[in-house]
Amino acid sequence: LTVALLFGGRSSEHSISCATAGGVLSAIDRERFTVIPIGMTADGAFTLQPDDAALFRLNPDAMPHVVDNGTRVRWPESTASRELMVTDADGTSRSLGTVDVVFPILHGPFGEDGTVQGLLELAGLPYVGSGVLASALGMDKHFTKTVLRQAGIAVAPWQTVTARRWASDVAGVEAAVAELGLPVFVKPARAGSSVGVSKVSSLDQLADAMTVALAEDDKVLIEATIIGREVEIGVLGGRPGEAPRASVAGEVVVTGRDFYDFDAKYMGADGIELVCPAVLSDAELAEMRELAVRTFEAIGCEGLARVDFFLTADGFVVNEINTMPGFTPISMFPTCWQKSGLSYPALIDELIAVALA
Ligand code: DAL
Ligand code: MG
Repeated sequence: LTVALLFGGRSSEHSISCATAGGVLSAIDRERFTVIPIGMTADGAFTLQPDDAALFRLNPDAMPHVVDNGTRVRWPESTASRELMVTDADGTSRSLGTVDVVFPILHGPFGEDGTVQGLLELAGLPYVGSGVLASALGMDKHFTKTVLRQAGIAVAPWQTVTARRWASDVAGVEAAVAELGLPVFVKPARAGSSVGVSKVSSLDQLADAMTVALAEDDKVLIEATIIGREVEIGVLGGRPGEAPRASVAGEVVVTGRDFYDFDAKYMGADGIELVCPAVLSDAELAEMRELAVRTFEAIGCEGLARVDFFLTADGFVVNEINTMPGFTPISMFPTCWQKSGLSYPALIDELIAVALA
């Protein structure tokens, strides 16, 4: 089977996507799969990249990125064909062969939000993961929470603040923050990896936090702080007719930091420990699994997702869902599956098999 691995992209999580691609390139079963590595540059050009995992390793000193080498990959012109063509930097065109499935390992807007999924739907190409609507819902924290609340799943209290509201009604937003109770978290509605997220402990920090979040998106969420353990779980969608299933849980133990921010996630900063499996009672794990599957189904996900929770004194609260979770070999999603008996290469196999089922 030929797999087009699509990575990089236009979002602020470009480098994380490259690191994930590096992990997949080094682990995917080469006897079963031929890989076409397609890097999307930060400008949105589809380029043919070297099949070299080492180029895309996560390195805090030099974050990986897609270099525009002048090649341009072209998607099939109609659903009658699954042939990918590339124009090399010297202008000559050649075929890359027929693609069986696309693995869009893209995080954030223009990749995890339904846009690329729409492109692949138009082209008639099977792909790993959620479709257009679930991707768009999962990317947007306002709509994720709205749908989950409607489904009876607990989420943190929040206010959604558009750029327009912030520009015209600072006092009203400040009043909303006071009602939520300090500290609050200020987050772009559509971003990931904690990019643009700040913890606001006093009202005089609000304006800076809004500026940082509004740089990512013109819609921002202000969320009440939830006191609880941060626990995450992987979900795999089944084949047609099969129920989704959840992995064991992992825990993010935050000791020496304000929160699980970008530096702690990827830059090797201290103060965070990932524990998998998380220490939970059988009843807690069973409840978490059930809630994760309900969340997956409420959003309408397919393929895979990671659902992030807080475990509070009053039970589980869903923080968010990630329809294309971080997937480097040390990331929580593959680790949870590994501890559930599915190795990293077997997980890749399973995702591709489900996409083709
Ligand atoms: N958005 C990052 C990649 C995650 O959820 O893991
Ligand atoms: Mg996220």
